[in-house]
Amino acid sequence: MARVALVTGGSRGIGAAISVKLKSEGYDVAASYAGNDEAAAKFTAETGIKTYKWNVADYDSCVEGIAAVEADLGPVDVLVNNAGITRDAPFHKMTKEQWSEVMDTNLSGVFNMTHPLWNGMRERKFGRVITISSINGQKGQFAQANYSAAKAGDIGFTKALAQEGARAGITVNVICPGYIATDMVMAVPEKVRDSIISTIPVGRLGEPEEIARCVAFLASDDAGFITGSTITANGGQYIV
Ligand code: CAA
Repeated sequence: MARVALVTGGSRGIGAAISVKLKSEGYDVAASYAGNDEAAAKFTAETGIKTYKWNVADYDSCVEGIAAVEADLGPVDVLVNNAGITRDAPFHKMTKEQWSEVMDTNLSGVFNMTHPLWNGMRERKFGRVITISSINGQKGQFAQANYSAAKAGDIGFTKALAQEGARAGITVNVICPGYIATDMVMAVPEKVRDSIISTIPVGRLGEPEEIARCVAFLASDDAGFITGSTITANGGQYIV
């Protein structure tokens, strides 16, 4: 029977590429999204991957959403915590709301999705939890005290939980993409973006599919001995 994968923020950007890649590898895939109904409907029409709407920042919505996915597809074997937002501002201009929105989605959202699925994975003695962090959680980024803090938190979460999952057949890993050609990066002012690209040794933005291939590997049986790891995929922009 096909394994079931749930990708948060799975209908756009890096998440869409992950959903499509996992489907091509034979998984039954569900993609969650928070708000863009039009993009989700288009994605489902183009790929045949069903989308589900809920806000990962809200624990109860995650519990309900996961129940809907599991009613349709069966127990989730692979969770990809991809949903994320930016609210960039230099710290002296950053509001409490900008801080909280990013922490609630990019860090608490990972807890909210992983926690309701954890016991099921433990009971079935198999699971894959793969979280999409960021280069900016590793190196920090001007105007992203909120985002960098949340993404660094995702790395700590992964390292702790990997130790708890290991005996239960659950691997927990994190991927730190660099700057990838998505709407999120295209929203950075062009001049700033060009100056960022000039610091990437491979000389270009990454492609969403380059991150999707990392996810597919971590989800596979071949990666069963890899847990608590951070895969850095940033074109050499920050070498750890
Ligand atoms: N380092 C040092 N100084 C910087 C800087 C940097 N990286 N970036 C901007 N500054 C300086 C500017 O030169 C300017 O200085 P002056 O006032 O002396 O001219 C000042 O900071 C900016 O002040 P502004 O009042 O213009 O700032 P703003 O309120 O308009 O904010 C910004 C602009 C939000 C910082 C904008 O420049 C921006 O979006 N920067 C990009 C941030 C970024 O890289 N975000 C990543 C998004 S992609 C992502 O997050 C995905 C992922 O995981 C990789």
